[in-house]
Amino acid sequence: MIDSILKSDIKEYPLVREGKVRDIYDLGDCLLFVTTDRISAFDRVLPNGIPGKGIILNKMSLFWFSMMKDIIPNHLLIGDFKSFPKDLKKYEYLDGRSMMVKKAKRIDIECVARGYLVGSGYKDYKKAVESSPGIPAVDLYGYELPADIKLAEKLPYPIFTPATKEDDGHDINISFDDMTDRVDINLASELREISLAIYSNAYEYAFPRGIIIADTKFEFGFIKKRLTLIDEILSPDSSRFWPVDSYRVGSNPPSFDKQFIRDFLETTGWDKNSPPPELPTDIVQKTLEKYKQAYKILTGSDAFEE
Ligand SMILES: Nc1ncnc2c1ncn2[C@@H]1O[C@H](COP(=O)(O)OP(=O)(O)OP(=O)(O)O)[C@@H](O)[C@H]1O
Ligand SMILES: [Mg+2]
Repeated sequence: MIDSILKSDIKEYPLVREGKVRDIYDLGDCLLFVTTDRISAFDRVLPNGIPGKGIILNKMSLFWFSMMKDIIPNHLLIGDFKSFPKDLKKYEYLDGRSMMVKKAKRIDIECVARGYLVGSGYKDYKKAVESSPGIPAVDLYGYELPADIKLAEKLPYPIFTPATKEDDGHDINISFDDMTDRVDINLASELREISLAIYSNAYEYAFPRGIIIADTKFEFGFIKKRLTLIDEILSPDSSRFWPVDSYRVGSNPPSFDKQFIRDFLETTGWDKNSPPPELPTDIVQKTLEKYKQAYKILTGSDAFEE
């Protein structure tokens, strides 16, 4: 197994953000996104990484950017390490796990598309059903839905459920109407249309190959006044990927990628508050296999092939 890259150390440029998984540097007129091998579970970064996971996630975003480019332009500037500026070339570990992106003026809304009802969407839905007992249809974020949808069930049609971007990380779901208090109504409509179009395309592509994309989150911004897709897209970190095989209505499906880790952590007695325990080698290995498998299913190629 290769070593995990848990931290980047680019000295020439300021590190402007260290997320749970990505390190972001300001290169002056653009940004460098480095996807490390860090992995989080239950919102905490674990002490060891999954070696090569960052490469898989970075390449997955590149794959989707390219597939969706006719729907909307994206922020990608340079994805190929060979074309990076000279002063970055000495950091060989960047190869495959980083991209240079154009700086955008971000729109502070998380654009969520859901095809299945689970997580915070299901919670809000249950509340809506309970507050209007006996009524056959309920309103969820402005959508009229039947009142008998079960946990993890497929929705009659995909819905757009925006959320505010909160600095403490706990975004708040809002209705489309609330969104129009924050952004112009024409822009809000455009964001809804584009989010649903990307989601539906990705869903239709992934489902027959064995992956359900249950929901996903996009971010958008303006680059030179042009509406642009930014951040990462359709990765297991920004979406729920479920294996088609083990999907059952009524129970929360295991995630495609983090299932072994969650199961392991549950056996350790970790309180989810104190520093998380180290992952054993077999869990690391099995998790890496899941990422490789997802990549192969989606792109048709091996993640570590040239
Ligand atoms: N082209 C861009 N221009 C400007 N900001 C961008 C661009 N693309 C993405 N961003 C912003 O960069 C940040 C990426 O941060 P990152 O995803 O690492 O951390 P996070 O989302 O806060 O936390 P998490 O680790 O949970 O993902 C986000 O705030 C995103 O909105
Ligand atoms: Mg993020």
